[in-house]
Amino acid sequence: MGRLAVNGGKQLYGDISISGAKNSALPLLAAGLMTAGGTGLTLSNVPDLADTRLMICLLKQLGMTVQQDAGTIAISGATTNTDAPYDLVSQMRASILVMGPLLARYGEARVSLPGGCAIGSRPVDLHIRAMQNLGAVVELADGYVQARTPDGLKGSKIIFPFVSVGATENAMMAACLATGTTQLINAAQEPEIIDLAACLSAMGGKISGAGTDVIIIEGVSALGSARHAVVADRVEAGSYAIAVAITGGELCLKQMVPAHLESLFGVMRQAGINIESRTDEVRVSSTGHYRGIDVETQPYPGFPTDLQAQFMAMMCLADGHSKISETIFENRFMHVPELVRMGADIQVEGRTALVKGKQSLLPAPVRATDLRASVSLVLAALATEGESVISDIDHLDRGYAALDAKLGACGAVLQRLD
Ligand code: UD1
Repeated sequence: MGRLAVNGGKQLYGDISISGAKNSALPLLAAGLMTAGGTGLTLSNVPDLADTRLMICLLKQLGMTVQQDAGTIAISGATTNTDAPYDLVSQMRASILVMGPLLARYGEARVSLPGGCAIGSRPVDLHIRAMQNLGAVVELADGYVQARTPDGLKGSKIIFPFVSVGATENAMMAACLATGTTQLINAAQEPEIIDLAACLSAMGGKISGAGTDVIIIEGVSALGSARHAVVADRVEAGSYAIAVAITGGELCLKQMVPAHLESLFGVMRQAGINIESRTDEVRVSSTGHYRGIDVETQPYPGFPTDLQAQFMAMMCLADGHSKISETIFENRFMHVPELVRMGADIQVEGRTALVKGKQSLLPAPVRATDLRASVSLVLAALATEGESVISDIDHLDRGYAALDAKLGACGAVLQRLD
């Protein structure tokens, strides 16, 4: 695992182009398993990340032909096996997204259970239940989910007991090739769901309601070739907006969808940060001084759990107190002890963190524990006079394309140590 040295205390000025969304690219790549014949699925604006590389590796292992030209990935051919092995799935939970496409297109899937993860137990029961609702026979054996559809998938009404982004995506993909109509009730409404629906529709799928909590899918007999550009990464954009709020300065975040970050921008404005949205860019400016604000994570359009750690880093330097409640994942405060090592005043009570803002943090050696925790430590270090060294920084490369180069071009001083 690598280390990153951050010499903080510098304001950020400049433009940052936002990459395609990791959380959209992963299901879209999985959807490539469902193309039948022709040129296949060509995705552009795919971010170059450890996670997208891993998904491409999984598609190749399943037998698909994958051609890559910078951020454009063309997926064609057909699978030669339907087995997603533990060594790949255990590295990335989103690998479970191949289950729906494999089952729908090839009638079977054997996918390793993802196993534990730093931010909680993260079971896949909703994914499995959705496949069973569509008529799949599912067995758990040897740490694998083995699913078959002896008579093909059949459209059905699937009621999710709570919102799951991944289970909604898996069900949506599988239902495209089921016979009849599927209704997804209490579906996730994230922009990444709308992006997946747009791509599946371009491939010939019949989907309505994506972006609301009821999605209707009329099954079709096959999905064909299509081209699709991955939507901008709202979490990356939000992370850089928080970076400049903390350090002070002015950043223009380009090639993004401002509406996707309304929940973050709303609380940042309340805190006193200046945010000007245009069609596809946002200008964020800050004096580095702002108020403490309470937030609670919620499924979209609520405040995203994927920005909770970054927002907490910001609140560590706010004027006043902030109460941050995590309602999506049960163990997503791994960054707290590391921020405390930098001098932050944070008390955790169950799923709530009480943050008392301070005038400054102190540089310290800290350790990244997961993707979003790692970027929160980078943001805290950017605001700190002196050098902080963040170890296990490889987590960052799972979700942030060229973070060092993007922030470096705006005045941040960061260096990979090994
Ligand atoms: C996706 C995102 C992730 C984000 C999360 C919540 C991708 C690749 N990842 O993850 O960055 O943090 O949405 O916005 O898009 N759950 C179950 N059983 C299941 C599925 C989920 O109990 O079968 C629970 C999870 O443990 C969690 C909650 O449901 O507590 C929401 O998880 P979910 O929306 O499914 O997250 P992911 O799709 O894994």
